Amino acid sequence: MTQQRRGAAIEIAGLRREYAGGQGRVVAIDHVDLAVAPGEFLCIVGPSGCGKSTLLRILAGLDRQTSGSIKVDAGGWAVENAMVFQESGLFPWMNVETNVRFGLDTRNVPRAEADPRVDAALKLVGLAKFRRHYPHQLSGGMRQRTAIARAFVTDPGMLLMDEPFAALDAQNRVILQTELVRLWEQTGKTVVYVTHSIEEALLMGDRTVIMTAQPGRIKKIIDVPFPHPRDLIQLSASPEFGALKLDIWRVLEEEVTRARAETEQ
Ligand SMILES: Nc1ncnc2c1ncn2[C@@H]1O[C@H](COP(=O)(O)OP(=O)(O)OP(=O)(O)O)[C@@H](O)[C@H]1O
Ligand SMILES: [Mg+2]
Repeated sequence: MTQQRRGAAIEIAGLRREYAGGQGRVVAIDHVDLAVAPGEFLCIVGPSGCGKSTLLRILAGLDRQTSGSIKVDAGGWAVENAMVFQESGLFPWMNVETNVRFGLDTRNVPRAEADPRVDAALKLVGLAKFRRHYPHQLSGGMRQRTAIARAFVTDPGMLLMDEPFAALDAQNRVILQTELVRLWEQTGKTVVYVTHSIEEALLMGDRTVIMTAQPGRIKKIIDVPFPHPRDLIQLSASPEFGALKLDIWRVLEEEVTRARAETEQ
């Protein structure tokens, strides 16, 4: 699936994923066509159950589509390591430091190089003092920050993030959003970022994909016009930001209402 090519970092055409469930067939996503440019920060929003995680898992090579094609060029890195999940997915038997080091160990990065990278990643997420703690000794937010450090430590060309900050408290969320945008501005990684929050998508991304309720299709793609570098706090208080947020909510509202009606049947 991973291949070196010029042009888009991700190309998706006619993607469909069906699941055979207890109550019959579920079409999670259908007719998804999308190209993501190298170095782009793309956000995906859509109602619960519209197939956002499914799409990201397929991109990461953790699931397979039923039909359609995808091409992923993560600059030579294995995309599996670039994924940050909705729930942290830490190894419970490893402490924070060992969890963060994991991606480097599997690539046999020598200790002398790995140690400063692990230190920097732990510092980035504010967990340097908790390196010896095990996941069950951490709060939900701290576990999520550990997962983020684990993705950053390998310095992947691409980050696939599935609501990585949803479990964080508001202050830590702003800090990590700011850090992620700063890292992205500095490193030019391709980021695909799934979120429930329109605000988060507009604060961080270049484009926002709005998905329909199940089966998830692309309803609209919005160009986010705010220039970089961005000051997220200042941006979130600006009238332009408020106006765009409202526009997107109008598009999404219909889908959220439809998704709710369907699950309440
Ligand atoms: N392994 C699976 N087996 C059967 N059905 C699945 C499986 N994974 C996902 N689904 C179904 O596919 C649909 C899309 O699920 P997915 O987790 O991708 O949604 P989502 O957009 O990420 O939702 P949320 O915003 O709540 O995280 C749902 O109806 C879900 O029940
Ligand atoms: Mg999900």
